[in-house]
Amino acid sequence: MSDYIYSLESHLTAGQNGIVAHWQAAATAANQNLYLAGGAMRDLLGGLPTRDLDFTLEGNPLKMAAEIAGNLNGRIVSQDDHRRVVEMIFPGGITVQAAMARQERYAKTGAKPQVTPSSIHDDLRRRDFTIDAIALALNRGAKGLLIDPANGLADLANRELRTTNSYALYDDPSRLLRLIRLKHRLQFTVQERTAQQFQNALDENLHRFITQASLLEEFRHIADEPSPSEILRDLESSGLLALFSKALAGPKLNLAAVTKLERLKKSLPLGGPGWLEGWRSFLNVVTEKLSPREKTELHEALGISKQDVESAKKVPVQAKKLETSLKSATLRKPSQIYQLLAHAAPDEILYTLYESQQRLVQDRIRNYIQKYLPMAQEITDAEVVAAGGAPGSPKFEKIRENLIVNRLNARPKKVEPEPIMEVPALSAPRGRPARQA
Ligand code: CTP
Repeated sequence: MSDYIYSLESHLTAGQNGIVAHWQAAATAANQNLYLAGGAMRDLLGGLPTRDLDFTLEGNPLKMAAEIAGNLNGRIVSQDDHRRVVEMIFPGGITVQAAMARQERYAKTGAKPQVTPSSIHDDLRRRDFTIDAIALALNRGAKGLLIDPANGLADLANRELRTTNSYALYDDPSRLLRLIRLKHRLQFTVQERTAQQFQNALDENLHRFITQASLLEEFRHIADEPSPSEILRDLESSGLLALFSKALAGPKLNLAAVTKLERLKKSLPLGGPGWLEGWRSFLNVVTEKLSPREKTELHEALGISKQDVESAKKVPVQAKKLETSLKSATLRKPSQIYQLLAHAAPDEILYTLYESQQRLVQDRIRNYIQKYLPMAQEITDAEVVAAGGAPGSPKFEKIRENLIVNRLNARPKKVEPEPIMEVPALSAPRGRPARQA
């Protein structure tokens, strides 16, 4: 087995490996070449957790994606028929992007590109940064072969962001935003020539061509990053934050609040990367100082749907309710706290922690996350089956819940005290003991 395939298999979760195997089988059956590329390869080679599985096919992935989604209980979240790119989500929150290997020719900045099918090599050369332009062959003949035409491996080792070609930022100015986001996420420096290209693009005001869809996608990504406050600061100093909201680019940018939220999020294993709901609490916090009108302007600039705006507005309301329930004196048993929080959205728990000044509320949430949740996760399927739950039956989850409640409420076993060891007496000091400072 090639070293890269071995690294891939040990790097991915069991669920992600299962999905790779299904794509391999489908590509073999369709006689198409399949590659893992983009962010998935960057994260694999950089030793970072894999966020999405990015597949590239020398062929059309759309039909294959629909079949795989059907077989594995997945869902197609978006589909771009022009570029032949499909985004999917599978049980367990595993996200997948599958794309046709293609060339994109831009008549001018911001124009819709002319898309033509291409080889994987040409596809990699039209990408944004060299570290995103590495592919691993997954098809039988070449399995394990690494394709790295822009020498992204060297840039990964030097921890540098470098564009694959001098037009990369001109062709697609949304890459200006990606550059700032990736720089902070990876803690990489920007290579000198790329930094110059970035500045030239800003001087030429190319960011005016960034589409609304790209702005919204970036906003959601920023919310999910480990350090959104650093990204926002950098966006502001480069003048790009005003694209999202003019009101936000100035004293109304509450970086202290965003930092508080990101610290809380880091301390809570509520959801990892790709935790799609995370943007709702971020939206509330980042716009805290804006007037209602300025908030609406931001929603419109990003094209956030009415439904999503309403959903985000509910977070503080639900968090207030959750805080009231968590303060209740009737809530005594660990199982009651568990049941209350297990049914709350992670985003609402996070926002409750962010807003609540009550020690009791803070402690109960931390107990839930640090003690009750791990104890509940210890109940295995085998235990549920042994207690009479047939897998897949409605009774199965009910029985699991009962087992969890019993385990959480069981009094901790009395621990027999350790026998006291005889400690040889120290010889008593002569004279008066020294006065304690
Ligand atoms: N890409 C690009 N130009 C863009 C967006 C994406 O060249 N404006 C390419 C990059 O090679 C990228 C790949 O398409 O790695 C997949 O894009 P996407 O999934 O959006 O980003 P990731 O790099 O996977 O980053 P993230 O971890 O933030 O999802």
